[in-house]
Amino acid sequence: MMDPTPAGDSKAGPGAESGDGPSRSTGGGPRFRRVLAIETSCDDTSVAVIAHDGRVLANLAAGQDDAHRPFGGIVPEIASRNHTHHLLPLVDQALRGAALSWDDIDGIVVTSAPGLIGSLLVGVVTAKTLALAENKPFLGVNHLEGHLLAPFLRDDGYAPPAGFEYPYVGLAISGGHTSLYRIDGLGEYEVLGQTVDDAAGEAFDKFAKMAGLGFPGGARVDREARSGDPRAFAFPRAMIHEDHFMFSFSGLKTAARKALDALPEAARAARLPDLCASYQEAIVDVLLDRLARAVKAEGVGRAVLTGGVSANSRLRARAEEWARATGVQLVVPPIRYCTDNAAMVGYAGILRLNRGETSPRSLGPSPKAPLGRRREGVRAPGVRRS
Ligand code: KG4
Ligand code: ZN
Repeated sequence: MMDPTPAGDSKAGPGAESGDGPSRSTGGGPRFRRVLAIETSCDDTSVAVIAHDGRVLANLAAGQDDAHRPFGGIVPEIASRNHTHHLLPLVDQALRGAALSWDDIDGIVVTSAPGLIGSLLVGVVTAKTLALAENKPFLGVNHLEGHLLAPFLRDDGYAPPAGFEYPYVGLAISGGHTSLYRIDGLGEYEVLGQTVDDAAGEAFDKFAKMAGLGFPGGARVDREARSGDPRAFAFPRAMIHEDHFMFSFSGLKTAARKALDALPEAARAARLPDLCASYQEAIVDVLLDRLARAVKAEGVGRAVLTGGVSANSRLRARAEEWARATGVQLVVPPIRYCTDNAAMVGYAGILRLNRGETSPRSLGPSPKAPLGRRREGVRAPGVRRS
């Protein structure tokens, strides 16, 4: 419930004054120096204040896990109702926490796509109302763009590694998305591949539910898997040797269901760590296989893991191992910028505002809006939805 989690600080983080990275302004300073950002696309309400160089001046979030837990998943109506309760108090807290007033804010950024329509609507309507009341320009941005640009955020505890720049391959993995992109610059996103059925986070959550681990499941599977054997169960790795960048997790889910059903009730608890470790390993194998293939094929030498699933400890460890072995520059933003947060949305927005973009007052939510252009031939042959 309402338990705002602070991240970032009003002080400049390491390298924050350098002004390097894609937000560099050329002479005269940027028109938009600080924006207030709102993120309500799913179940977390988040508000941030972001500077033009990616510095996070405030980043607060109010989760709703307790409200959805009795239903075993996110209930859209409950999510939007909770956003209406949490949002304005968070706006006040973010400004106060950063010791700023509305005079210090040059614009308002909001996630307007994609996501749950009712949740997006709360954010968009609130942002438009604040923009009108405070006489500020505002801009709607795509949530996925925020995830892909999260590595450029900076605070007291994090800064993008030296030399990290465009182009890079980004894998956005969350409860709603598993999408592999080539990123060549702001607004230059090419979809290399995506899931044909469940998202990676959804695969974690569905397994957690069937294994009786509760909601939300990803972090619980991760925790349980630490004491398990990842080779105990031979779960499928869909399309892993195929030469494209698509993903499928529905076969894995079915295999896990069968494995669970085959276990006598009394043996389940004892085998749970092995089941979790094996299931997680299958997901990690597939994610890293696709990422490694894409980085090689694109010849970019830089990779980003982002989205809630990149909080997974096994994925992080294996990805770092791969990066060390191959010399690829891998950036996995800190968890506070991987899970849904307004900071990443604000950063994408302030870059665009400084490029001269704003949204019309008629802007509405776009629950299904895709991000980027699809590369020719992006398809998964012979795979059907489960
Ligand atoms: O990006 P995010 O916070 O929200 C969405 O846009 O969906 O991602 C949430 C997803 C959930 O499916 C959750 O189970 C998963 O990220 N997740 C994890 C872990 N922490 C969160 N999955 C695996 N391991 C984790 N440690
Ligand atoms: Zn997300």
